[in-house]
Amino acid sequence: MENRKPVVELQNVKKSFDDKTILKNINLTIYNGEFLTLLGPSGCGKTTTLRIIAGFESADSGNVIINGERVNDIPPNKRGVHTVFQSYALFPHMTVYNNVAFGLKMHKVPKNEIKSRVTEVLRIVKLENFADRKPHQLSGGQQQRVALARALVNKPLVLLLDEPLSALDASLRKGMQKELKQLQRALGITFILVTHDQEEALSMSDRVVVMNEGVIEQTGTPKNVYEEPNSVFVAGFIGDINILNGEVLGLGDGGISARVEGRLCAIKTKKSLKIGDRFKLLLRPEDMRIEKLSENPETDGLMIGNVVLKTYKGATLDTLIRLQNGTQIKASEFFDEEYEDFDYNMDEKVSIGWVSGWEVVLPDEGA
Ligand SMILES: Nc1ncnc2c1ncn2[C@@H]1O[C@H](COP(=O)(O)OP(=O)(O)O)[C@@H](O)[C@H]1O
Ligand SMILES: [Mg+2]
Repeated sequence: MENRKPVVELQNVKKSFDDKTILKNINLTIYNGEFLTLLGPSGCGKTTTLRIIAGFESADSGNVIINGERVNDIPPNKRGVHTVFQSYALFPHMTVYNNVAFGLKMHKVPKNEIKSRVTEVLRIVKLENFADRKPHQLSGGQQQRVALARALVNKPLVLLLDEPLSALDASLRKGMQKELKQLQRALGITFILVTHDQEEALSMSDRVVVMNEGVIEQTGTPKNVYEEPNSVFVAGFIGDINILNGEVLGLGDGGISARVEGRLCAIKTKKSLKIGDRFKLLLRPEDMRIEKLSENPETDGLMIGNVVLKTYKGATLDTLIRLQNGTQIKASEFFDEEYEDFDYNMDEKVSIGWVSGWEVVLPDEGA
């Protein structure tokens, strides 16, 4: 991605509202043709970031650069970016055709050109047969497509999408996610999507920017942020995670020996640690392995706990286990031959290990 041309750059962007700092110091480069998602909890500053790129909001300091040009003082309609809002903001009294044509008419684009561009974009969003309908005669998904068409007809350099699917029901939403992704691929336009839905972010994006309280916590591919989160926040926001407490006992080649939740174990890690360092060990529920209590539970290195909840999920069996020290561990195991011969009971005492190689070690700050 880095050898591509930057299309949007935010340099040291800061923004406050009423003395409250909303964006602390945002630095972000978005590349041409990329599908980038801003992901984070409600109120973390995603929409504000998008509005600063669009020009609806101005940064208190820092630079906004689009296509190599500093645009801080350039109005929204001259930036080559277009926004699809959460509320589609369609004109209710106008037909689909006129909703899409409206901006072009305002810009006095010749009639013939308007016709060909609107027809083309309605074909792209699969609404060519709905040109004469009014918004209230359309489904939510179709209204969403009109909003998309209205932005695309301007041939934007960058399309900004602020939670564009959040008004749709779950199954329609999944379908539109696929369509949007395919559309972006086909058109090659840079998409910047805002969402608080981690699954949506992971499944649609080339890169995900995880934000929290006005700060970018991590930027990376979906695989990267899921498998190698660089903070407890990112790990927890991008899915379920177990957070265990550990202490380094010894250093070895490509790993450490450690005490984790009271048990001795070996952990692979490239993090530089010293003996005595405390750390957090992050483990995804799907990487946990529950086993029948062994003959020598005190020395086999596995953690010991009691099954406190079993949830049948179809493809997986999700289990909650309480360790002797009170820590709760979530395990999510796929049904396969390996597990057929062992179905643990509620309250049963079991051993818990994990698949080596997937653990993430985060040194405790200030320790
Ligand atoms: N125009 C505004 N005036 C005052 N506060 C605002 C304004 N816009 C956003 N905020 C505040 O900024 C914070 C971030 O908002 P926003 O960027 O919309 O978050 P997100 O999109 O991540 O949910 C929120 O606390 C919100 O209340
Ligand atoms: Mg928002």
